[in-house]
Amino acid sequence: MTNKIKKVVLAYSGGLDTSIILKWLQSTYDCEVVTFTADLGQGDEIEPARKKAEMLGVKEIYIEDLREDFVSNYIFPMFRANTLYEGQYLLGTAIARPLIAKRQIEIANETGADAVCHGATGKGNDQVRFELGYYALKPNIKVISPWRDWDLKSRTKLIEFAEENQIPIPKDKKGEAPFSIDANILHTSSEGKLIENPENEPPEYIYQRTLSIDDSNDIPTEITIGFEKGDPISINGNSMTPVKLFEKLNEVGKQNGIGRLDLIENRYVGMKSRGIYETPGGTILLKAHRAIEELTLDSGSMHLKDELMPKYASLIYNGLWFSPEREMLQKAIDQSQVYVTGEISLKLHKGNIIVMNRKSDYSLYNADLVSFEDTDTDYNQNDAGGFIKINSLRLKLLSNRKK
Ligand code: ARG
Repeated sequence: MTNKIKKVVLAYSGGLDTSIILKWLQSTYDCEVVTFTADLGQGDEIEPARKKAEMLGVKEIYIEDLREDFVSNYIFPMFRANTLYEGQYLLGTAIARPLIAKRQIEIANETGADAVCHGATGKGNDQVRFELGYYALKPNIKVISPWRDWDLKSRTKLIEFAEENQIPIPKDKKGEAPFSIDANILHTSSEGKLIENPENEPPEYIYQRTLSIDDSNDIPTEITIGFEKGDPISINGNSMTPVKLFEKLNEVGKQNGIGRLDLIENRYVGMKSRGIYETPGGTILLKAHRAIEELTLDSGSMHLKDELMPKYASLIYNGLWFSPEREMLQKAIDQSQVYVTGEISLKLHKGNIIVMNRKSDYSLYNADLVSFEDTDTDYNQNDAGGFIKINSLRLKLLSNRKK
């Protein structure tokens, strides 16, 4: 801790942990702290963070609504690839980190700060994502990671530090927090404590933004999502801003018990962790996007992007959003979406998402070609015989050798 720091930009939620970090930065480095609080759709008021930061003597306070940027430039591009990490995780936390890192670096440039600081622990993926983001955008930035550096390792020590420094502690925070939670407009993720044991079933109270199957609507919800070039643009014929659209999907997802996931995943830093994810709108969007691709993508594009997807997902999971390889893949994925335009109607019911119909002016679906009735003109069934014979040659050779 001998590093001289003049001014540091802290990713500040206004909560207890980052308030403690704020105070700790001031006393450890005797430096100016700039706070940055972002609304990413987590559902908490962000304005109270201003009062708290002022109370702690902060002079430069940034409070910003980044929701449109987040949905348009991070979530939607990721959904163009139908991205899932390890087959299931919609990357709700991972996709938010590059945007936060980017704004922190921009604010550091604006305020002349020489350091940035985040509140992620030393055991998780988020420290990697934040810091790879910082270094990609400003290689000489100094990075402070309190959880790796300080000696406030236990909850008790943290509370003591807060009390010594007149940091208000919400009553329910005196004991252990029940779970570690990360939320934004795409998802809520809960980890730790009771669910660390994979043998424990998650209690119902863990769920914050989805109804259980039992409590969900008895009557199905039918919705039509309009797409243009791979991105959703309307619901039931009404054009909406990306944020309004996502909020609407979250709401109908919640009411129909959609988007819960209990997952054991492989962290980048090596260990397995168990998380409860709720991604109501994202789960609907994934299904609808795939359905419009079914109609509009040729097999070559579709199969290639399906092969690229797991790689693309790992890059995002591992914090490499700002890397040339992610950008290369993004260009390819975006290119595939030029004709992914049209409408998908869905029935949402008791955790299910059922595709009812698909419509597109750019459809490659040709009923005459595929029909069991003899309607085709371009397709001669006799040609298929030769096609199969040529393809079978290699298999025949292999089989003959076995004899
Ligand atoms: N395991 C998830 C990820 O690495 C979520 C991490 C943050 N969640 C939390 N509850 N602290 O993306």
